[in-house]
Amino acid sequence: MSTRQRAVVAAATWMCAATVILIAGCTSGEKSAVAASASSATQTNPQIAQGAERFAVRCARCHGPLMEGIEHAPPLKGEAFQAEWNGKKARELYKRIISTMPQDDPGSLPEQEVLVITEFILSAGNFVLPPVSKANDLNAITLEMSKPL
Ligand code: HEC
Repeated sequence: MSTRQRAVVAAATWMCAATVILIAGCTSGEKSAVAASASSATQTNPQIAQGAERFAVRCARCHGPLMEGIEHAPPLKGEAFQAEWNGKKARELYKRIISTMPQDDPGSLPEQEVLVITEFILSAGNFVLPPVSKANDLNAITLEMSKPL
């Protein structure tokens, strides 16, 4: 973990502690925020819900059920992730996933599954793609995630 990531984690931990005083339990507060933003995004693009389901099966055991990251697998949402990917093409994120993930079995996922998972990950950063049916549709889209709601 870099110094910057550590600082982000420390800040997030502090904010969680502060939030606990206000809402009963930081985790449940965060879960309902994720669920609320996912359901409004799903109205615009129903594939995001499929992506959430596939993420839970294929990715959550390493990246965490809320994309929060576990041990060596980094978070797939939040400041550091957005700093890494914003400004790049959606196709690059798709390519990173389809060619290197899951880390213990890269190349095992079909195109359609990676497409919906990519849509789901981006939706957590408030970047809602239109439904897409092929990877080429992602070539022209520049990523511009913002903090989740
Ligand atoms: C076996 C554990 C494991 C599984 C399963 C897994 N990952 Fe990863 N992932 C990692 C690790 C470890 C890294 C960091 C090292 C690396 O880049 O390979 C990583 C890195 C990433 C990155 C780069 C993150 C960044 O900050 O740029 C993305 C994107 C990603 N994974 C997406 C996924 C998706 C989507 C899935 C499900 C299809 C998935 N991963 C499944 C372990 C895993």
